[in-house]
Amino acid sequence: MLSKKMEKILNEQVGKEAYASQLYLAMASWAEVEGLEGISTWFYAQSEEERDHMMRFIRYINERGGHAVAPMVEEPPKTFKSVKAVFEASLDHEQMVSRAINDIVALCLDEKDFTTHNWIQWFVDEQMEEESSVQGIIDKLNLLGKDNLYMFDRDIMSMRGTEEA
Ligand code: FEO
Repeated sequence: MLSKKMEKILNEQVGKEAYASQLYLAMASWAEVEGLEGISTWFYAQSEEERDHMMRFIRYINERGGHAVAPMVEEPPKTFKSVKAVFEASLDHEQMVSRAINDIVALCLDEKDFTTHNWIQWFVDEQMEEESSVQGIIDKLNLLGKDNLYMFDRDIMSMRGTEEA
């Protein structure tokens, strides 16, 4: 059984994952309108992954005797300054999510809730992977520069097929 405090922080995470899904959906749609097919494919897939993250939290909360709440989600931005700005915003967001996951880990240890501690480790690994994957894309973008956006877009399209979800 989850403590009330744990139920609350996990429900807050449901909201954060839901927002991430909407944010990436907005990024995907913006990229699609800009004619950047590879980038939009990448963000559509990210958006689905974030929805899956949200669902994992919802199912876990309910499984452990809590009540998962379907969150109200703030509207994400509609437009972005540039491709680089979009990936930088994505990295900022992932770093924020990593801090939130760490706060949950800290509460697990504080409450000696080792079941949740064990369960949340998947997210600890996932955050490390997500941060490093977005950072890798930003590095690639820096290398190629603006003039090679077409090449970058094609490149990122092929990445999606090989990356682990
Ligand atoms: Fe579910 Fe990318 O944080």
